[in-house]
Amino acid sequence: MNESSSTITTRREFIKTTGRLAAVSALAGVAVPNVHAAGSDLVQVALVGCGGRGTGAANNALASTGGPMKLVAMADVFEHRLSGSYEGIKRQCGDKVDVPQDRKFIGFDGYKKAMDCLKKGDVVILTTPLAFRWVHFTYAIEKGLNVFMEKPLTADGPSSRKMLKLADEATAKNLKVGVGLMSRHSRPMEELHKRIQGGELGDIILMRGYRMHGPVGSAFSTKYPGGNPSELLWQISRFHSFLWASGGCYNDFYIHHVDHLCWMKNDWPVKAQALGGRHYKTSPEGQPYVDQNFDSYSVEYTFPDGSKMLLDGRCMNGCNDIYSSYAHGSKGMAIVAKANDCGTPSAIFKGQNMQRSNMQWMSKDIEGQKDPYQNEWNDLMEAIRNDKPYNEAKRGVQASVVSSMGRMAAHTGQEITYDDMLNCEHEMAPGVDKFTMDSPAPVKANKDGRYPAPMPGITTKREY
Ligand SMILES: NC(=O)c1ccc[n+]([C@@H]2O[C@H](COP(=O)([O-])OP(=O)(O)OC[C@H]3O[C@@H](n4cnc5c(N)ncnc54)[C@H](O)[C@@H]3O)[C@@H](O)[C@H]2O)c1
Repeated sequence: MNESSSTITTRREFIKTTGRLAAVSALAGVAVPNVHAAGSDLVQVALVGCGGRGTGAANNALASTGGPMKLVAMADVFEHRLSGSYEGIKRQCGDKVDVPQDRKFIGFDGYKKAMDCLKKGDVVILTTPLAFRWVHFTYAIEKGLNVFMEKPLTADGPSSRKMLKLADEATAKNLKVGVGLMSRHSRPMEELHKRIQGGELGDIILMRGYRMHGPVGSAFSTKYPGGNPSELLWQISRFHSFLWASGGCYNDFYIHHVDHLCWMKNDWPVKAQALGGRHYKTSPEGQPYVDQNFDSYSVEYTFPDGSKMLLDGRCMNGCNDIYSSYAHGSKGMAIVAKANDCGTPSAIFKGQNMQRSNMQWMSKDIEGQKDPYQNEWNDLMEAIRNDKPYNEAKRGVQASVVSSMGRMAAHTGQEITYDDMLNCEHEMAPGVDKFTMDSPAPVKANKDGRYPAPMPGITTKREY
């Protein structure tokens, strides 16, 4: 065999070979590279959770650079969500969408059927509310699939511990895993991170994150109206209102700032104390709100070196809106996110005053890489096609645990450590892997239609 014919291996041969190698290595107990797509190979995609973000992530997947992609299967628990998402993706991506009726799956077992349409080395997108993340991730790993999954990954101790184990299993199988904490793929923030690690701010002493605006998403809910959909499906469709489904507005809305500030610090906090409360208990129409959220949170996190991170979150109209983040060091300060979760430009200032004359650096956007949601897909696909190590799951869980510990500190009125949160035994959605359309909802309303709400100082070992 000449050199060129020995080195050019077709994908089919490669799969055959790695299949044989895998069998041998299973006996010998050694890891072998997983099947991965070369640049020219078609990578198939399945979408599980066809809502707003799932639709966006699928569009990003199909627009990713590096090689051909096709969406081949979709799953949701609501037919109207799946069909709306399908129409939207089809409109944007045309013939990169090949999802006939028999590859559209409705129901709690739809995720299995959608993933069964893929082969090893393809990618599944997990964009349901977080309660289902560990269930879907478990099956993706079993099937040898690469994964893109949205933040947050967990809301409680038991599922965080499960997800940490799964993260290791995915690495052991050489699967590539992207997590939708897209700040980490903002090119300006990457440069800011490099500069901070290079000492431009000195030692980081304090960081501040603010997300304060009017009510958004499904954070506040009035009574379940009854009938169809069932109470379980209604809670799922209003997932920001329920801690079991989303971790509530704290985890869902504030995790980006928690994550990117901890990235700037290169560490995770060890404990949190917090204030929080619910000021407005009725809708503008006078209906009582029945959900589990506070409408304001103020959390003080402490890092191992004693430095602090403050996270203020508020969902209230008519107040001072702020949605940005900052880092303060012994030599200077930085605007981390100028606006929203990771809006540019980031900037560094001498001293602690953000005045123009003190500015030492301001980020510039890179043409073609302005959108972190697209960058995170290009980065994931580059790793898949070139078989580079890539697994964001562990740090996605860590960011989720840090979010949950801030939330739990506010909800209980206690100081909560990282280990308290990780080891807390309150499982918010037991049996989530066995849900069917007829299952009861994980939280039940009282006679007035209200769900169990946190009571700081009274309910202290768990949040409700
Ligand atoms: N990275 C970001 O900036 C960003 C932005 C928005 C949302 N998100 C995250 O994406 C996730 C989804 O949020 P969204 O705004 O798209 O919500 P959404 O309600 O629009 O979409 C969720 C979809 O999942 C479906 N679903 C729920 N349970 C399911 C199950 N068991 N099996 C199959 N389908 C199921 C729902 O019917 C719905 O269509 C959340 O975790 C959210 O935090 C991330």
